[in-house]
Amino acid sequence: MKKILALVMAIMMMVVAAGCGGSDGKSSGSSSAGGEKKITMGFSQIGAESEWRTANTESVKQAAKDAGIELQFSDAQQKQENQIKAIRSFIAQGVDIIAFVPIVETGWDTVLKEAKDAKIPVIVVDRDVKVADDSLYVAKIGTDSVKEGQNVFKWLDEYMKKQNKTPRAGGDQFQVVVLEGTVGSSVAIGRQNGFKDAMAKSEDGKKFNILASQTGEFTRAKGQEVMESFLKSDRDKIDVLFAHNDDMALGAIQAIEAAGLQPGKDITIISIDGVKGIFEAMIKGKANCTVECNPLQGQLLMETAKKVLNGEKVEKLVYVDEGVFPADVAEKTLPERKY
Ligand code: AHR
Repeated sequence: MKKILALVMAIMMMVVAAGCGGSDGKSSGSSSAGGEKKITMGFSQIGAESEWRTANTESVKQAAKDAGIELQFSDAQQKQENQIKAIRSFIAQGVDIIAFVPIVETGWDTVLKEAKDAKIPVIVVDRDVKVADDSLYVAKIGTDSVKEGQNVFKWLDEYMKKQNKTPRAGGDQFQVVVLEGTVGSSVAIGRQNGFKDAMAKSEDGKKFNILASQTGEFTRAKGQEVMESFLKSDRDKIDVLFAHNDDMALGAIQAIEAAGLQPGKDITIISIDGVKGIFEAMIKGKANCTVECNPLQGQLLMETAKKVLNGEKVEKLVYVDEGVFPADVAEKTLPERKY
């Protein structure tokens, strides 16, 4: 009799536990050892195009672990369609929250509306989206790409003056070539606009001319390839390279050396990100400045996710801190760099 009673009690406890787990009908969150429900976050990353991106991915994965959040990580291999598929799959799984790095600015309205209809909050990370209705996402955590572009021009203008530089091909204008990031991405658009805007507003703006500007897709290989083609047409004219990221600058350095020129001397090089590789190049005198774009966004993302799910108010737009690092501080700064 005692055995039968114990069996009935055990079955009843199992039924109650199963009922508690699926109460909201959408959460796939598993229970932690203490019985607390674990948050599940679906995260769609662009891919692994640069040193910066690798650091960004590691930051998100580590922060999720530290915060006790279960991360469903999806790599889109540089394709928006893969990101849309991933977001739809997160919705179907009923994750608690979705975060994603939008590869391009536009084309997100429909899928974000689907997430909103499923009552799953969305956080936009690193890059921006352009959507008709801002309530389709709860927060954006990331970088101010317009400011980065403005900082590039500001540093360049002061540097050329301080160094008493003159245009290599004569005349009264410095010839600038630009390696742009992914076409249609908010960061490529913002960096280019910020740079051009600062140039237009500066008294010295007329001293600079954008000779050529083309995408290098944020990769080292493409940066090298496009720089080779710039050099083929204008080897003896180019004074400045502005690369939208450090990886493309590192690829371009190889192309400049192969063309028999000295990167960092014949051609002034400034790029964005602040990865270790560009600090090493600056120490060797092959690059001149990097404007930081901070990839360590994981912790802020997890904190924001928890607040959102707790019903707390969060800032709609949060930018992470960023600095400017010229070559003369590279040696001192490199040991402190985290990515
Ligand atoms: O969105 C941030 C940019 O994307 C970084 O500057 C670049 O390195 C990355 O691939």
